[in-house]
Amino acid sequence: MRNRVYFFDTTLRDGEQSPGATMNLQEKLALARQLEKLGVDVIEAGFPASSAGDFESVKAIAAQARGVQVAGLARTIKADIDRCWEAVKCAENPRLHIFLATSPLHMEYKLRKSPEEVVAIAEASVRHCASYTDNVEFSAEDASRSDADFLCRVVETAIRAGARVINLPDTVGYAQPDEFAALVRYVMENTPNADKAIFGVHCHNDLGLGVANTLAALKVGARQAEVTLNGIGERAGNASLEEVAMALSVRKDYYGLTHNIVTEQIYPSCRMLSMTIGRPIPGHKAIVGENAFAHESGVHQDGMLKHRETYEIMTPESVGRAGSKLVIGKHSGRNAVRNKFESMGFKLNETELNLVFEAVKSLADRKKNLHDDDLMALVHEEIYRMPDRYRLRHVSVQSSDADGVPPTAAVIMDVDGKEKRGAGFGAGPVDALFNVIADIVGRKADLEQYAVNAITGGTDALGEVTVRLRSESGASVGRGAHPDILVASARAYVNALNSLAKLESEPNREK
Ligand code: KIV
Ligand code: ZN
Repeated sequence: MRNRVYFFDTTLRDGEQSPGATMNLQEKLALARQLEKLGVDVIEAGFPASSAGDFESVKAIAAQARGVQVAGLARTIKADIDRCWEAVKCAENPRLHIFLATSPLHMEYKLRKSPEEVVAIAEASVRHCASYTDNVEFSAEDASRSDADFLCRVVETAIRAGARVINLPDTVGYAQPDEFAALVRYVMENTPNADKAIFGVHCHNDLGLGVANTLAALKVGARQAEVTLNGIGERAGNASLEEVAMALSVRKDYYGLTHNIVTEQIYPSCRMLSMTIGRPIPGHKAIVGENAFAHESGVHQDGMLKHRETYEIMTPESVGRAGSKLVIGKHSGRNAVRNKFESMGFKLNETELNLVFEAVKSLADRKKNLHDDDLMALVHEEIYRMPDRYRLRHVSVQSSDADGVPPTAAVIMDVDGKEKRGAGFGAGPVDALFNVIADIVGRKADLEQYAVNAITGGTDALGEVTVRLRSESGASVGRGAHPDILVASARAYVNALNSLAKLESEPNREK
């Protein structure tokens, strides 16, 4: 197994720290199931001590997971570790992951601890974790800006105290590939008990080098890659799972490393995340972007027709992009619908199936061809994004006319279970709609982003609208999908208002 790379997915923890990427429990459970299908070795499900919501979702993911390891993150504080263990202990294979900064900058200004104190804390906290499980990971936060010999000391102490995995993060995305590889190699060669642990890396993307640094470290002996889908994460994000996995597969001749990622599940996973957090995948994104396999220039097209490998280093099929298959239509029965959703990773109970089945029928009446993406949008709409406080019932919008009457909107919705109605004007139809909804719910948040995307091709495509709102409590993202983009816009706006309301009901979220 010396050449096997372990994939540690932190989409649900570091990824969720990306502004606006908050997911609810149902969404996290669905994504965790998809990560299992994708073949990751470890799912980092969250940071249980950071909030009650995180605790509950880590616990639920731990209870549901089969085969895959489930990690929870904790600071080197006894109460954090205890809480983390409470959340992960029901997993088949739980892992405690603790982190402690080792760079002079972090130790002096953030921790206000001397290097000696840091070594002592590392030892005591790993020992405490090891009293619960032998599956303990220790992360030396800001490792890339730490003194290499001090790092070896801390790592040696952590391994002696019971850590089985040592993670060396490039926390602020500062390292350069050669330099980072040299540090990883140095620590592995100069820590006396290094052979008793697996070394991993966790690289942020502030200089766009997250993937390059991860691969450089794997090349010199690191064997755990901490990554996220689509590279989401704190600030500029983390190394992206799909890019690291495909680099290892396509350039096996160079790396000589194996992994367990089911590459055909890459696109479905990245797409599911993008739909869930309402953030479209950029067209030029490697592996999963719309254009990643599009050949525009005549010379390239000619080459492709003559021999595919002239311009394609991997096939779209190898990453699960065989084109979404047409599967469900007007005449599909309940069982076909249930099976289809199950094959896409969604386990629906009877109530949910009823809701989705009705929605499939109604969409199939308006739209001839239903693709996987349409169905995924629909399940998010009907199940995972069920509004809590606010629920949209009816929307009618009139564009401005030649006599200069401004655009008008009329909306009926439920607010805390009570029906409310409103009508009003706006600078454009979307503005009118948002003004009326804001009046009805009695709040106005700043609109930071409004984006429309066609989910699948054709004029009958579902329009996917993403809305990003900000209030004093933070930012929230809402998504709505519908063939009528004004209805999709209203849904996205209401969805974002619901997320904002949820955020406000959980004010002490510490991350
Ligand atoms: O970036 C970082 O250092 C982290 C650690 C908690 C692993 O996210
Ligand atoms: Zn991180």
